[in-house]
Amino acid sequence: MTIAWDPTLVVGIPEIDEQHQELFRRLDALLESIRGGRSRDEVAHTLAFLREYARSHFAAEEALMAARGYPGLADHRAEHEAFAAELVTLDAERQRDGATASLIIRVNTQLTGWLRSHIYRTDRALVTFLQALPRS
Ligand SMILES: [Fe+2]
Repeated sequence: MTIAWDPTLVVGIPEIDEQHQELFRRLDALLESIRGGRSRDEVAHTLAFLREYARSHFAAEEALMAARGYPGLADHRAEHEAFAAELVTLDAERQRDGATASLIIRVNTQLTGWLRSHIYRTDRALVTFLQALPRS
């Protein structure tokens, strides 16, 4: 099984949709490295690779919200921070216990589930707001 972005996740802003696809690719690379029994270094690397991209993607969305005066910015940012914190916890677990079955389940269900529901609800609400703004 693979973690993959699918078209039901389209939000309608190509730049954001591309970033979401990249996030799913990196999430899948992380899952594959854990499940495939790769070296500690490789798992550490794929997790760092995901964290780095999540950080830059969230920063891009938050900059857009700030630039357009989005009233839901604080709540949206709090969700991003929760995901970033989850990645920190996951990394601590990986360092302590290695690539366990519990780590696989957390990546496969928790992180993926979080991302999907965040895109469905929270990112879509942002896009609805942006699309209703008068064109400048
Ligand atoms: Fe977001």
